[in-house]
Amino acid sequence: MENLESLRSELNDAVGAADDLAALEDIRVSALGKKGRITAMMKSLGGMDPEQRKTTGQALNVLKDEIALAIETRKSALEDAELDARLMDEKIDVSLSIRPESEGSIHPISQTIDEVVAILGGMGMTVREGPNIEDDWHNFTALNIPPDHPARQEHDTFYLPGSVEERKVLRTHTSPVQIRTMMNSEPPIRIIVPGRTYRCDYDATHSPMFHQVEGLWIDEDTHMGHLKGCLIEFCRAFFGVEDLPVRFRPSYFPFTEPSAEVDIGCIRDGDGFRIGRGDDWMEILGCGMVNPKVLENCNIDSTKYQGFAFGMGIERLAMLKYGIPDLRTFYESDLRWLRHYGFSALDVPSLVGGLNR
Ligand code: PHE
Repeated sequence: MENLESLRSELNDAVGAADDLAALEDIRVSALGKKGRITAMMKSLGGMDPEQRKTTGQALNVLKDEIALAIETRKSALEDAELDARLMDEKIDVSLSIRPESEGSIHPISQTIDEVVAILGGMGMTVREGPNIEDDWHNFTALNIPPDHPARQEHDTFYLPGSVEERKVLRTHTSPVQIRTMMNSEPPIRIIVPGRTYRCDYDATHSPMFHQVEGLWIDEDTHMGHLKGCLIEFCRAFFGVEDLPVRFRPSYFPFTEPSAEVDIGCIRDGDGFRIGRGDDWMEILGCGMVNPKVLENCNIDSTKYQGFAFGMGIERLAMLKYGIPDLRTFYESDLRWLRHYGFSALDVPSLVGGLNR
C-alpha cells in the first residue's frame, strides 16, 4: 500500500501542472483508470483484515473523490483558457479604417439614368417602371407589332418556356410600359421609363441585358414640334453642348407614325470622335408620334389625343458622353475601370450645378 499522503500531494501537483487537456487525461487514466494507481489500491482492500479495510477504504474513497474533483476543476479552467485564446485569435477589429481601393463609386449606368431623369424630369415628366418579364401583348401586339411582323425577329427575343400563345418574354424594349401606363391612366400622360431590357446579342456594342429610357407624352394638342423641341433640348443639356446640331431622319417603328431617328453632330479625328458641331453625325435614339392604333389599343380616343414617344439606349448615351469604347466593361464590376472614368460615389447630378464634370 502506497503512502496515501504522498500520493495525494503527487497527484494534486500533477493536476495543477497539466497545461493541456491531453496531459490531464493521462493523469486521470494513471490514477483513476482501470489500471490506475488508486483503482489498484481499491482492489487490494480485499486482502486486508476488516478493521484496516474499513479505515483504508474510507481514506481511499476520500482521495478518489478529491482527485476526480481536482481533475474536473482543472479541466474546465483549461477549456475556458482555450476558448479565451481562440476568441483573442479570431478577433476582428471593426474599427479598422477601410482600404482606399475598396471605396465604392456610382456606376455610370446609374449616373446616366440620373442625368436623363434630371433633364426630362425638369420638363415635367415623371418616372414610371414596369415588369422585366412581359407578356406578348404588352411587348408586341399592343404596340402594333403583329404576330408575323419582322420586328419580332429583329428584336432577337428571349422567350420563357410555354406555348407560343402564352409564353412570356424578357421585354425587348421599355415600350410596354407605355402600354401599361395608357391602360391605367387618363391623359395628359408625361412619363419617362428607365429600365432593363433584353435581346439575344453580344459584342462590343451589344449585351443581352442593357438599359433603355422611354419617353411618352400624350395630350390634346401635342404635335411633332413638341417632340422635336423636347429632344433637341434634351440632347443639348445631356451632352452639355449648347449649339449641338440635332437632326431628325425619317424612319420606321410600328408603334409610331411618323417615326424618326435622331442624330447628333460630331467631329471625327482619326479613330476618335467628339460630340459637337462638326461634319459628321451619330445616331442616338428612335422616336415618333404615337401611332393612333396604339392609342386605340389602350382605349384612348385618338381623335381627341395625340402624343409623342421616344426610346434610347442608356449604355449608348454613357459610351458617347464618357468616351467608353466597349459596352461589356459596364458589367465587369472592375473598380479600377470606374475610377479611370472618374465616377465618384458622391456625384449627384443636378441641372442647377450643371451636369458636366
Ligand atoms: N422601342 C424602340 C426600340 O427599342 C425605341 C422607340 C421607342 C422608338 C419609342 C420610337 C418610340 O428600338
